[in-house]
Amino acid sequence: MYRSHTCGEIRMSHVDQEVTLSGWVHKTRDKGFVVWVDLRDRYGITQLVFDEERTDKSLLEKAKSLGREFVVQVKGSVIERTSKNGNIPTGDIEVLVTQLTILNTSQTPPFTIEDNTDGGEDLRMKYRYIDIRRNPVKENLIFRSKVAIEVRKYLAEEGFIEVETPYLIKSTPEGARDFVVPSRMNEGQFYALPQSPQTFKQLLMVGGLDKYFQIVKCFRDEDLRADRQPEFTQIDCEMAFVEQEDILNAFEGLTRHLLKEIKGIDTGDFPRMTFDDAMKKYGNDKPDIRFGMEFGELNEVAQHKDFNVFNASELVVGIAVPGAASYTRKQIDALIDWVKRPQVGAKGMVYVKCNEDGTYKSSVDKFYDQDDLAKWAEKTGAKAGDLICVLSGKTNHTRAQLSALRMELAERLELRNPNEFAPLWVIDFPLLELDEETGHYHAMHHPFTSPKPGQLELLDTEPGAVKANAYDLVLNGNEIGGGSIRIHDKEIQSIMFKHLGFTPEEAKAQFGFLMDAFEYGAPPHGGIAFGLDRLVSILGGQETIRDFIAFPKNNSGRDVMIDAPATIDEEQLKELNLKLDL
Ligand code: AMO
Repeated sequence: MYRSHTCGEIRMSHVDQEVTLSGWVHKTRDKGFVVWVDLRDRYGITQLVFDEERTDKSLLEKAKSLGREFVVQVKGSVIERTSKNGNIPTGDIEVLVTQLTILNTSQTPPFTIEDNTDGGEDLRMKYRYIDIRRNPVKENLIFRSKVAIEVRKYLAEEGFIEVETPYLIKSTPEGARDFVVPSRMNEGQFYALPQSPQTFKQLLMVGGLDKYFQIVKCFRDEDLRADRQPEFTQIDCEMAFVEQEDILNAFEGLTRHLLKEIKGIDTGDFPRMTFDDAMKKYGNDKPDIRFGMEFGELNEVAQHKDFNVFNASELVVGIAVPGAASYTRKQIDALIDWVKRPQVGAKGMVYVKCNEDGTYKSSVDKFYDQDDLAKWAEKTGAKAGDLICVLSGKTNHTRAQLSALRMELAERLELRNPNEFAPLWVIDFPLLELDEETGHYHAMHHPFTSPKPGQLELLDTEPGAVKANAYDLVLNGNEIGGGSIRIHDKEIQSIMFKHLGFTPEEAKAQFGFLMDAFEYGAPPHGGIAFGLDRLVSILGGQETIRDFIAFPKNNSGRDVMIDAPATIDEEQLKELNLKLDL
């Protein structure tokens, strides 16, 4: 038996008991006549003591030979400490060791195994198995497990069946590039790894399974960000005989359950906002509603004077920044520089200080009088002491720029409290999205999403105006889930493919199996997928999903620990009938 107890559980009540512990040598302190060792495992740290008086000499010598991260087993008796450590749960006791077995030695680890380690990101990723020994990483993985188990429990209770779908498939269009896998047995042919199990879960509904879920890996070859990994995990769900309302209720239930079980937070009904409203009020389809700073559109009250920048703009829009009227010229200039950065792309920023005495001071006083500025304040909801920041230009760009500024200011003003949770359904997404570069429309969610009833005809005349039965669940400004009611009619699906630029032949080649299935009694159905990594990290009060993934990829899509991707040898290439022409 390697251990009778863990290193986290021994207390005063164990004093005088004989225990066996196994773990890693966290730290040793050698005073010559006495050696203390902090022994660590997943559960905590227990102090071991070896001393001249009570320990035999060879054992004391052996203790002195221990290095950091050696793996050892000890037997000994629990004693009360003379000087107690109130910082750890086992701080009242120590184990007087009578037997020490070195189970394995260790090289000196490349960084300290402390909450605030000296190891940089790259080093920690290369030695991720050591990094996982650190509390913050370990706690995040345990937290993730807890969430995943809670999801399974809840959905099983609600009658959902977990079904595994294949990884070696054909392209599923979710808007990213596919990762492909060459087939040895089928020369010149490739599988694609699923960007999501979308078509399979729809086929499960045709198969009559009714309520499906799966905690499943998805693969997308796209640019990485803090909230994106090339392989990530979805809680993928689908239901038959449902309308949008049923799906929203079912998964609001799941999210509410998680907030309650995991965070102890009771939430009422989640607010809902249309996509159009979200764009108008926050310039963003995933607004963070933990704080205000809603957009105030100013065209009406700013385009009647000689200020040509505004007169020539499609949209003039501002936000009131609470308490920022006291910003110095230097601070405001820094904000202007910030919005002019290429990542944001604004040409400039107009501002109005709402003074405590009720007067206004703006950067465009030449053009606007106090009455004008009072109207701006009214539209943006600005109060005395606030600073109104105004951007202008093309509607879409300006909204995106002001949204970026709103988020940046919220961060600086510490309005994004990680312990507060503000879920929001964004509904009525457009069915199609115009690609400004190519001038083509593509599916905003995916091609299987159904238009709102009665809007099919609009596809020919005003494709950009067609709304879909599509929805996202947003939590604290992050899209944690998205889904839709699907098309279940072959004719409508063909019309969609046509509008997305597929010829009938292409549609048949790529999605013939789904169209065929629609001819064999496909029930009305719809679903949603949550990003588990995102959900877990936000519930954990953070926004970097890498910290909640055991073995994540770095920003270049590399696993620096196993050194992947890597070249393969000639023999393997030949077997796969692949030629590299580098
Ligand atoms: P969607 O593409 O919106 O929908 O994906 C669902 C959720 O998955 C998460 N997500 C990601 N998380 C980490 N890294 C990524 N690269 C990444 N991409 C997406 C997001 C997102 O909300 N088949 C549809 C679902 C459906 O219609 O039922 C789908 O995949 O949190």
